[in-house]
Amino acid sequence: MADSFKAFLIEQGADKSVQAGFQTLAPSALDAGEVLIRVRYSSINYKDALAATGKGKIIRRFPCIGGIDLSGEVIDSADPRFAPGDPVIATSFDIGVAHHGGYAEVARIPAQWVVALPEGLSLFEAMALGTAGFTAALGVLRMEDNGLKPDNGPVVVSGATGGVGSLAIDMLAAAGYAVTALTGKADEADYLHRLGARDILLRQSIDLDAVRPLEGARWAGAVDNVGGAVLHWMLASMQQAGTVASIGNAASVDLHTSVFPFILRGVSLLGIDSGYIGFPTRQQVWSRLATDLRPRHLGEVAQRIAFDALPAAFDDFIAGRIRGRTVVCMDA
Ligand SMILES: NC(=O)c1ccc[n+]([C@@H]2O[C@H](COP(=O)([O-])OP(=O)(O)OC[C@H]3O[C@@H](n4cnc5c(N)ncnc54)[C@H](OP(=O)(O)O)[C@@H]3O)[C@@H](O)[C@H]2O)c1
Repeated sequence: MADSFKAFLIEQGADKSVQAGFQTLAPSALDAGEVLIRVRYSSINYKDALAATGKGKIIRRFPCIGGIDLSGEVIDSADPRFAPGDPVIATSFDIGVAHHGGYAEVARIPAQWVVALPEGLSLFEAMALGTAGFTAALGVLRMEDNGLKPDNGPVVVSGATGGVGSLAIDMLAAAGYAVTALTGKADEADYLHRLGARDILLRQSIDLDAVRPLEGARWAGAVDNVGGAVLHWMLASMQQAGTVASIGNAASVDLHTSVFPFILRGVSLLGIDSGYIGFPTRQQVWSRLATDLRPRHLGEVAQRIAFDALPAAFDDFIAGRIRGRTVVCMDA
């Protein structure tokens, strides 16, 4: 490989402030790992934006190359499961938070964090999905394991225009669910309908300050990407034996609720953590993403940006202004 590479490095100043920007690094700067990868694509998740801007305490080891997702080709591998030229995906674990991540031309990753690209997905599509798609799929699988079926009734998805939300809507609609998209963006109704949402519910139309311990029973399932009052409202609005997947905290890390949804309606609250799910589940989820759970509208959900455009992209995520997924193209 070349004797230097370009990377987006996140550092911490003496005053604990976070600074991030492009640097040219030597290969010796890479962390330990069995698989050396030529990164072709990465992506931006909400967590990446929190890490790069310092708006959230995400980075556990400074300095750290950002990017919790990457796809590319193996340059060299000390693990016999991977050979030079193999297309691979690496997401989650410590990548981009405590181990140099995907915002770089090359990455060295422990083999147990690397997944062979499943047949049926391109390296670009793998990053159009990324951690967001993996998490949405994991949420759907966990909910179905808990008894959710299309016949049970409608499913509501919050943070609907975000990465996880968009992909969850697409997957659930394709699987036959009647999906309601809960969003703050009135002007994205057409987009959400195109993904398969049957109904659009504006967050502003709900009085989130006056949610009662139990509301009218509306939802058989709920996918929550925002936390706080929205998750409280979802729990209070579930049908008997409904299933809620708690995925995100884009609005709040708090949850103030009552036990009534659990003890009077038998509601299940499932915690979804895609970060440290190991094998074989990780491989199985990616296989499903390449087959029956493959979103039908990836082309519409994903936009591309060049590596050089990365620093300017984060603020829109923090402000909740983005739609869908953003794929970072290393070669562009
Ligand atoms: N548990 C896990 O393993 C896991 C994995 C991946 C992501 N996550 C979390 O899941 C969440 C979604 O991730 P993402 O990558 O989809 O993020 P994203 O693309 O930035 O989307 C977040 C969406 O949430 C809504 N939103 C933003 N700020 C809000 C606010 N203040 N109040 C209410 N809604 C707000 C917006 O959608 P609307 O305008 O349409 O409402 C926004 O598009 C994040 O909190 C992320 O950290 C967790």
